[in-house]
Amino acid sequence: MVKIVIDLLEFLRSCAPLLTSLIILTVLCILLSKSIKKHATVYYLVLAIPFALVALPFTCRMFGIETVSFTSIPILGEIIRDYIHMGTFGHPLLIIIMYMGALDPKIPGVKKLLAIRKELSIISGFPVLAHSLIRVTSSVPNSFKFFADHAEYMANTKVASEWGVGISSFSFLLGIIMLLIFIPLWVTSFDSVRKRMSNVNWRKLQKWAYVLYATLFIHAMGIQAGGLLNPRGGGAPRPVTVEATVAESARSTANGHGGHGHGRENETVKPDQNTQSVQTARPVATGGRMPTKGLSDFKVSAPVKGYIHILSLILIFGSYLYLRLRKAKKDRLKLMH
Ligand code: HEM
Repeated sequence: MVKIVIDLLEFLRSCAPLLTSLIILTVLCILLSKSIKKHATVYYLVLAIPFALVALPFTCRMFGIETVSFTSIPILGEIIRDYIHMGTFGHPLLIIIMYMGALDPKIPGVKKLLAIRKELSIISGFPVLAHSLIRVTSSVPNSFKFFADHAEYMANTKVASEWGVGISSFSFLLGIIMLLIFIPLWVTSFDSVRKRMSNVNWRKLQKWAYVLYATLFIHAMGIQAGGLLNPRGGGAPRPVTVEATVAESARSTANGHGGHGHGRENETVKPDQNTQSVQTARPVATGGRMPTKGLSDFKVSAPVKGYIHILSLILIFGSYLYLRLRKAKKDRLKLMH
């Protein structure tokens, strides 16, 4: 039974990672809500560690000091990579925070999450800052070049679809605007800063969260759509690992230029990706018996994953928009009566 559940989760995670992580993280946050509220500082300190392990070597390399790469450490490396990509933690966390403003606070789970909305907002800053630190130096310079020096960019870059690179580049540049919106929202989540602001100003600033959610949707959709049109930078260049990207982005910052990819270009790409839509792993004969196939043996190709991800984004952000508008209408009616 346990194996079936693990198999199912593995399968769901491989084909719909965002939805699966969102469900798991929501349940975890509800279960841990009391503990998060009570020991918020401990959570902040622990969850800031992966960010610190991204920021420290990055800063050192910018000054020419070589340090160890923490991304090669088992488990911890996975967590750092996840922070950089926003995959199973950062993005779902932002979605949970976003949904808190659209759901009925009387629903028990929502009530628990609402009680820790501030804490979750502070925690969300660690993956967002780790992501931005790496991305602003590794993806932004070439995205800028695509628009500012288009002819030179096209002459020197292998491109499968100009539209694809254009969409990716626009989405990366949008990241800078998102960062500019995110930082004030994040800083004012801390009580010490919030106390210094008037309620009116704080509320005014919070309205920018809606702009952030809209840009978040465009950013994520653009990266996926650009990646589908222009897979792995157009010419399927040699896949490089996050370790290399972290080092490269620090190096490129020091040199004043950066690499360009459409999204998850810094992941090691497995040989079976980008080949077939859905395939099963080749069964290995063991002792004359064919092993029974589990759900986790089904492999979903990168383009199919991309389409599932786009559908997940439409579902998540579309439902949010519907729920938020419905809540606004209800609140307006309440005020009138
Ligand atoms: C500073 C400029 C930024 C750039 C160049 C950038 C670039 C990227 C790239 C390349 C990805 C693909 C995943 C990866 O490999 O990392 C991505 C994903 C993502 N970024 Fe950014 N980003 C920036 C800032 C931000 C900020 C400030 C936020 C949030 C406030 C954010 C939220 C996200 C999310 C949630 C994803 C995952 C999207 C998905 O699941 O489809 N990014 N970004």
